[in-house]
Amino acid sequence: MLTNATQDAGWRPANVIWHLVAILRDALTLIAMILILTQLHVFAAVAIGIVPLVSFAFMRWHVKRRFLVHMTYTTMRRIVEYFQNLMTSRESIKEVRIFGLFEHLYSRFAQHKEEYIQAHEKMTVSETRVDWFLSTFSNLVGVGLWVYIIIRALYGHITIGDIMLYFQAVNSCQQRFDGVLRSVVQGYENTLFITNLFAYLDLHPQDVEGALARSKDPSVSPKSLEKGIEFGSVSFKYPGQDRYVLRNVSFSIRSGETVAIVGRNGAGKTTLVKLLSRFYDPTEGEILLDGRSLVEYDLVQLRQQISILFQDFIQYHLTIRDNIIFGQIEHSSDTECLEKAAEDSDASSLIQRLPKKFDTVLGRTLEEGVDLSGGEWQKLGLARAFFRDTQLLILDEPTASLDPLAEHEVFEQFARLTRNKTSVIISHRFSTVRMADRIIVLEDGACIEQGSHEELLAQGGMYAKLFTTQARYYHHEDV
Ligand SMILES: Nc1ncnc2c1ncn2[C@@H]1O[C@H](COP(=O)(O)OP(=O)(O)OP(=O)(O)O)[C@@H](O)[C@H]1O
Ligand SMILES: [Mg+2]
Repeated sequence: MLTNATQDAGWRPANVIWHLVAILRDALTLIAMILILTQLHVFAAVAIGIVPLVSFAFMRWHVKRRFLVHMTYTTMRRIVEYFQNLMTSRESIKEVRIFGLFEHLYSRFAQHKEEYIQAHEKMTVSETRVDWFLSTFSNLVGVGLWVYIIIRALYGHITIGDIMLYFQAVNSCQQRFDGVLRSVVQGYENTLFITNLFAYLDLHPQDVEGALARSKDPSVSPKSLEKGIEFGSVSFKYPGQDRYVLRNVSFSIRSGETVAIVGRNGAGKTTLVKLLSRFYDPTEGEILLDGRSLVEYDLVQLRQQISILFQDFIQYHLTIRDNIIFGQIEHSSDTECLEKAAEDSDASSLIQRLPKKFDTVLGRTLEEGVDLSGGEWQKLGLARAFFRDTQLLILDEPTASLDPLAEHEVFEQFARLTRNKTSVIISHRFSTVRMADRIIVLEDGACIEQGSHEELLAQGGMYAKLFTTQARYYHHEDV
């Protein structure tokens, strides 16, 4: 719907106005010319008016068909665009080259495109035929009128001057009618496409599958986290999916506590974060914040209380400063906090190294942009999360790309940073996980163990297994 609303409809409202003006302009001349033709004969005016009416009937049908074909191929157009992007974007070019994918991607691109082209070809051929027929019809009417004018002149009913006048009136009428016709047809096409824009604008968040429940009392805002967070028998499946990704998960995060969530890939860790920040509501069960269901809080205010470093955080191709202050744009001028966030995330030495420091532009979207390493980007992501002054801090894989020294550095700061905060850390790195007050182990969407690092090791369950497996490769002293 978004593709249809923006790509093919976004420019049309302005186009409607442009054509309305064109119609008004042509209409004035047209009325004058028709009045002149009625002097010749009423039927002359009628004959010349019939052409655009017949044309409109045909063209309307064509426009409608073109619109329907266009709509049918929306998905295909998106796929074509995707392949186009794969073949040309900086992000994908490394793989495309090393795996030698270009020819293959191109042929798939062309194959999809071909379908679309064929559908268009058929339409265009039939449109051209009709167009030819209509212009011949229009020419015949014109010639007929000329012949009539000449006959009238031969019989002496009109003067030589009149001949010139009527010839010009016929010509001008045909041209203007053609102009008006094109504008009307374009206008009709616009209205068809604009319905997509309006349908999209009319779309209410509540109409979408997986819509969030409405807050019952949006005036309730989570000020300071006092009791903590409670997951009460939370089960969840993504909208439109049958499989439960979380099953009957219950645990609590007490205020001020640092809780780590571990589990294998796909266990549902990131999904928990998405529920906690209310990108989705639980399918069953509820999440309580200070004893109230999340649903009861005002969504905006709830999110104001949460800072997150997402697993797939954004690399803003803007300045380093932007990358950090985007964590809390209202505090954008707080230089002290900015520097502290950079310090805490171990990003400051990197920033000092760069010529323009905080004003260095990153990424390659702009010519002057500097590229960073994966870990350096992650440090900025962390800095962004730290810059945000909130009660609840959630870090999803915050140290995945950090080298061991940087990880150590960050965790030195971390205890201090989270002193007055409640924090949730998701990580596969047990060096990161073990510092948590409590660890929750997810397996296949269910919470199977919880406790401190020592308790869980002693239990000898899943956590112990994951930990010792990782430790074995590092010859860790705990093994
Ligand atoms: N938007 C989505 N729609 C449908 N299914 C999804 C969606 N996002 C995730 N899933 C599914 O939910 C399951 C849990 O995903 P989730 O991202 O929570 O795992 P995770 O524990 O964070 O894994 P990882 O350690 O790899 O980050 C996965 O099986 C995944 O396929
Ligand atoms: Mg994840």
